[in-house]
Amino acid sequence: MRSPLPTLPKAELHIHIEGSLEPEMMIDLAQRNRITLPYESVEAVRAAYQFENLQSFLDLYYAGAQVLQTEQDFYDLTWAYLQKCAAQRVCHTEIFFDPQTHTDRGIPFEVVHGGISQALKDGKNQLGISSGLILCFLRHLSAEAAMATLEQALPYRDSIIAVGLDSSELGHPPVKFQSVFDRARAEGFLTVAHAGEEGPPDYIWQAIRLLKVARIDHGVRCVEDPALVDYLVDHQIPLTVCPLSNVKLCVFQSMADHNLKQLMDLGLCVTVNSDDPAYFGGYVEENYTAIAAALALTPKDLRQLAQNSFKASFLSSAEQQPYLDALATAL
Ligand code: ADE
Ligand code: ZN
Repeated sequence: MRSPLPTLPKAELHIHIEGSLEPEMMIDLAQRNRITLPYESVEAVRAAYQFENLQSFLDLYYAGAQVLQTEQDFYDLTWAYLQKCAAQRVCHTEIFFDPQTHTDRGIPFEVVHGGISQALKDGKNQLGISSGLILCFLRHLSAEAAMATLEQALPYRDSIIAVGLDSSELGHPPVKFQSVFDRARAEGFLTVAHAGEEGPPDYIWQAIRLLKVARIDHGVRCVEDPALVDYLVDHQIPLTVCPLSNVKLCVFQSMADHNLKQLMDLGLCVTVNSDDPAYFGGYVEENYTAIAAALALTPKDLRQLAQNSFKASFLSSAEQQPYLDALATAL
């Protein structure tokens, strides 16, 4: 039987747009922008993608992002990702971008934002894909730098739905950014944060209590704290789980060891996402396929995950309903 997955409408809620930079585009943009890369070929880029933890990935990810220079580059990057969404029936996507990765090397905020947001508009008009944009602060940098980035974003606030927190988790707890998130919420942004990927359950508590997040990005380490699991279940705070990422970054030794099914069975609102698809071996569909095969997920589980992806999104209830109706009778 052919997999029913490609026909299920799905939303993606955890994708770093810089992490969708495929090796082919990295090499092309390096040539276009006359940048020297430490790789001679696409195969050499792919061969370098062996990671032992989050930091070993981030080092290559920030180096790769240097090829992004112009508004057209950010447009092309985002447009390529949206075409993947169209091919995989991802009907709605909430995209992270890391402005500091670019502004710190002299690329203006408006260049980054302009290219991404124009592609998202075209994605809506030409591909029928709705989207939201989430500005992530780099947590290895200072709270002052994050605040300055928030201030740069204020003129664009109508096109940015939320702020988030990413990069090196250990040693950079959510509390470090409490005042930045206070200000962001006062300015009308929703909030999310990476927590419990490599960091302890306490970072998830901090993200909830101090940053007042609507979702936890990753969150797989919540199982180490039963009171936290109860809280996440009672409040149905969604987790944006990224199976291929977790295995590539050695959060789990193999897909068979992943705790996604355990999280679902505990009653958590779990979603499946790609994180950095060009680096981890697949987009949303490949993530569903890999986790379904490794954990013997049933068609009912897959439907639940797709339903959760819309319920956990920042779409209004009225916007979610047609997708939930379609999923109610799918499979
Ligand atoms: N930035 C891009 N991918 C990330 C991840 N998986 N965790 C933290 N920061 C990231
Ligand atoms: Zn992430």
